[in-house]
Amino acid sequence: MAAPNIDTIVSLAKRRGFVFPSSEVYGGLGSAWDYGPLGVELCNNVKQSWWRWIVYDRDDIEGIDSSIILNRLVWKYSGHEATFNDWLIDCRKCKARFRAEKISDNKCTSCGASDWTEARPFNTMLQTKLGAVADDDPTALAYLRPETAQGIFINFLNVQTTMRRKLPFGIAQVGKSFRNEVTPGNFILRTREFEQMEMEYFVSPTAEHSKLVDYWVEQYVEWFGSLGISRENLFLYEVPEDDLAHYSKRTVDIMYRYFPEREKPWEELMGIAWRTDFDLSTHSKNKVDAEGKRINPDSTEDLSYFDEPTKQRFYPHVIEPAVGVNRTVLAVLMDAYSEKTNDKGETRVILKLSPQLAPIKAAILPLAKNKPEIVGMAKAIKRSLQPVLRAVYDDTGGIGKLYARQDEIGTPFCVTVDHQSLEDEAVTVRDRDTWEQERIKVADLAEHLQKRLKPYPVTQPEVV
Ligand code: GAP
Repeated sequence: MAAPNIDTIVSLAKRRGFVFPSSEVYGGLGSAWDYGPLGVELCNNVKQSWWRWIVYDRDDIEGIDSSIILNRLVWKYSGHEATFNDWLIDCRKCKARFRAEKISDNKCTSCGASDWTEARPFNTMLQTKLGAVADDDPTALAYLRPETAQGIFINFLNVQTTMRRKLPFGIAQVGKSFRNEVTPGNFILRTREFEQMEMEYFVSPTAEHSKLVDYWVEQYVEWFGSLGISRENLFLYEVPEDDLAHYSKRTVDIMYRYFPEREKPWEELMGIAWRTDFDLSTHSKNKVDAEGKRINPDSTEDLSYFDEPTKQRFYPHVIEPAVGVNRTVLAVLMDAYSEKTNDKGETRVILKLSPQLAPIKAAILPLAKNKPEIVGMAKAIKRSLQPVLRAVYDDTGGIGKLYARQDEIGTPFCVTVDHQSLEDEAVTVRDRDTWEQERIKVADLAEHLQKRLKPYPVTQPEVV
C-alpha cells in the first residue's frame, strides 16, 4: 500500500517533524517549505545515497559543486534568457492567472468563464542584483541558477584536464536551483526553491545516444527501486518531439504516481535527456555557425575535446539524467506509507522507509524510566551505537506509544532495555515492519543492526 494522496503525507510530515510550511508565523509564503529534524535527515540520506551510487560506486563519474550565481552570459548563451519561459494566460472575468498548457477544457477553473487574454511568455529565472548598485543599473542583473547543469558545462575542461579523464565520463552535482514558477503547489512537488541532483555524461558524437538514454533510464529505475519506490508506481514517458527543450533531441521522463486518486495520476519525477553537443559548443569561443560566424564572441575558452585514438577534435555530446531531491523525497514518503491494525483493533501508520533512508536507524527505549540502572544502560547503548549509526534515546511515553511513534517515522529498529537486560546483557530488537522481536547480546548489537541496515544493491552493467 502507498499513501492515498499527497495530503496524507503533508499531514504526517507536519505532525512528525519532516516538513513544515515556511514562514508560518507571518502567514506562510506560498510554495516554500522548511525541512524539520527528520526531513533534513531524510533529504541528506537521499542525497548521500545518490552520491555514493553515482560517484563512488562507479569509476566514470566525478563530482563538483559550482556557484549558484554565475556570470549572466552563461544564461544568455545557454538559451535560458531567451527561452526559459512559461506561457501565461489570464481569465478576463476573474483575473486569475494560469500556465497556458494547464488549461484543458477552455474553462477557467476559478470562475468557469472562457474569456482569455492572449498567451504571453514569462521568464521564470529568478533575478537578483550584485553589489551596491543603483536600482536601474542593468549591468548588476544576475540570476539564481534554474538548473545545476550549466555549472557543470562551464567546468567541463577544468574537470577533464585535472582528473585526466577520457570519454565517456560524467560530472555530477547536487544543489539548489530556483525558478519563479507561475503556479507552484502540491506540497514539495513544485516550489520556487528546490534541489536537483544532476549528472552530465559526456560521450563521443558518434556514440549510440538513444541507447545511452535507455541505459540511464534503466539505471534510475533500479536506483529508485533501491530507495523503496515500487516499479508499478513509475511510468516512462517519451517526450514528444514538439515538447522537447531547445537543447534536446530525445527526453524520457520518469513519472511517479503522485496523484493515485486522480484519473491522471502521473507527474514528472525526473528526466533523462540527450542534450546533444548544444551546451559545450554554445559556451565555446571557436564554434562557428553555417556562415562561419562565431556563435559566442564573449567566450574566452573552447570546450572541445581531442580524441587521441581518432586524432579528432569535437564537442562531446551529453546524456543528462536530472532528478529533483524534493520530488524523490515525496515519492519515497508516499511509497513508504502504510497502515497496520494491531491486536486491539487500532490502526497504526508505518512508514516502511528503506533502511538507508530512515532518518533514525535505531531508537533505544528503556522499559522502566524510573529505574536508574535501566536508564543508564539504555543511554550507554545509544552512545555506543551513535558512531556507527544514527540512534536516539526516548523515554517520553509508555512502550506501546514509543513503538507507534517510531513506526510512524520509519525507524527500522526499536531496542528495548528491560529488567532482564541488567542480568543477561541482552536487549530486545523489534522489527518495524513485522513487529517481530529478537533477543540480542549488547556486545553483538552494532554488528547485528549494521548487517540488517545494508542498502539494497544496484547492478551496474557496462555502459553501452
Ligand atoms: N537540467 C535539466 C533540468 O533542469 P528539468 O526537467 O527542468 O530539467 C529536472 O528539471 C528535475 O528537477 C525535475 O524532473 C524535477 O524533479 C526537479 N524540478 C524541476 N522544477 C522543480 C520545481 N519547481 N520544484 C521541485 N522540483 C523541480
